[in-house]
Amino acid sequence: MEIKFKLNRKDVVIDVDPMKRLLDVLREDFHLMGSKEGCGEGECGACTVLLDNKPITSCTANAIHANGKEILTAEGISEEPEGKLLIKCFDEANAVQCGFCFPGFLVSSYSYLQNDGEKNLDKIKTALSGNICRCTGYQKIFEGVMMACDEKENGE
Ligand code: FES
Ligand code: FES
Repeated sequence: MEIKFKLNRKDVVIDVDPMKRLLDVLREDFHLMGSKEGCGEGECGACTVLLDNKPITSCTANAIHANGKEILTAEGISEEPEGKLLIKCFDEANAVQCGFCFPGFLVSSYSYLQNDGEKNLDKIKTALSGNICRCTGYQKIFEGVMMACDEKENGE
């Protein structure tokens, strides 16, 4: 089936099994390797992407779900001003170890920054509650997002 959607701000068309997992479409057909497979069951958040600006787990979505929609992956977000800001703040907060979880954290944090952006620890924890990190401990990740909220608000 022909599936048309916007991927990282560009129009794309692909002839694919509509039930193919969106995660596999992104990685195999578009060679976007940022979205990772952790659990494969919608629990760990490593495969998170934005579908029409809402975070979803791409391992539990199918190609058909993207049809006519807009998908932003970690790769696309890393080119956006607020994505760049988040990457800088995660770096400054020493929030990354192995990095396996990070594309998912970047996507969820970007969504938070876009849709709320308040420097509020409880809200940030809730926004990132679907993402699991087995290395870093969450405190530094939250600090990175807090820093980005602060910088965005103060226009630094
Ligand atoms: S791989 Fe998709 S949520 Fe874990
Ligand atoms: S940095 Fe390794 S899983 Fe998060």
